[in-house]
Amino acid sequence: MSRLGTETAFEVLVRARAMERQGRNIIHLEIGEPDMDTPANVVDAGIDALRKGFTHYSPAAGLPELREAIAAEVSNSRAIKVSPDEVVVVPGGKPIIFFTMLALVEEGDEVIYPNPGFPIYESMINFLGAKAVSIPLREERDFRLDVNELASLISDRTRLIILNSPQNPTGGIITKSDVQDIAAVIGDRDIMILSDEIYSRLLFEGEPYSIASVDGFKDRTIILDGFSKTYSMTGWRMGYGVMRPDLAAQFARLMTNSNSCTATFTQMAGIEAVRGDQSEPEKMRQEFQRRRDVFVAGLNQIKEFSCRVPKGAFYTFPSVKQTGWPSKKLADALLDDVGVAGLSGTAFGAFGEGYMRFSIANSIEHLQQALDRIDQWTKKNL
Ligand SMILES: Cc1ncc(COP(=O)(O)O)c(C=O)c1O
Repeated sequence: MSRLGTETAFEVLVRARAMERQGRNIIHLEIGEPDMDTPANVVDAGIDALRKGFTHYSPAAGLPELREAIAAEVSNSRAIKVSPDEVVVVPGGKPIIFFTMLALVEEGDEVIYPNPGFPIYESMINFLGAKAVSIPLREERDFRLDVNELASLISDRTRLIILNSPQNPTGGIITKSDVQDIAAVIGDRDIMILSDEIYSRLLFEGEPYSIASVDGFKDRTIILDGFSKTYSMTGWRMGYGVMRPDLAAQFARLMTNSNSCTATFTQMAGIEAVRGDQSEPEKMRQEFQRRRDVFVAGLNQIKEFSCRVPKGAFYTFPSVKQTGWPSKKLADALLDDVGVAGLSGTAFGAFGEGYMRFSIANSIEHLQQALDRIDQWTKKNL
């Protein structure tokens, strides 16, 4: 257990809430969840399902109708042929990370993962006694991974490569040509890919492109996607994995052993989310883009902060190197002194030193207030 990591966002949230209870005014830019309501048609479908008695177990891999709806959506968005038996519905995106590692990774195996990156990857790799091999994401490359560097990290022990685009925490993306180059570098080696596409609908330029769409790669890829970010459904707990049918059957067995199934009325709401009107997610995307533009411009006005323009997701990842402060100390000071809750870049791995992550899942008004407070803090303390 001592090898298992955590997600600092939840810890900072707890601390910030405790400060609020003591009467402090906090601007929450720490947690990675959309602040919008779940679309009304989806909420209605969930309530309707509860009333109709969808309150019992479902099949471990998910309701057939939801698996069908997801298979159709993924086939369409990734231009591949996905059948319902290649879809496993789980309570959130995270279980797909958990199950992928449990199913595929053994002690001594090597797993290549983005750093800075979603902390659960590194946590799970270490937990299983595998070797965590970082592929650094660098600011000067707009946080795009360097394919040549990736090639140099692949060894005979590499079992799994984790890709994430748009990326948490940097907002960087893996372009279509990068994806094709990555596929070429992997070639026909016996390596599986976990492609974390949970922010695929929150892209501000171009089209998302999955490595599963590259010829010969669908069978070696596990796509992770879900409802948390796209439909603002973090608390409903629903996500899914798309993978070969034989592997999907193993994931279903892991579900039987852990959760039995994803909440059945939640799945009914999921059918409406996937098949119903898609204007709300699109509105959310546009709203995040508007906030991104305001917040990044504001950060760049602060002398000691500099911020690249994120291309997707709802995070900004400014460099704070010019402050001369270590990221963690700065994040603590901003929370303690001026009530701005953000995360140290190091919450996402060692390569996050020198950066902070601010979520833009808050109103323009609050984002503006946060900028004012950070600006005042820097003028007073630096
Ligand atoms: C990159 C990435 N993958 C997976 C997840 C997990 O999402 P969920 O809340 O659906 O488990 C998150 C959530 O923050 C994320 O940022």
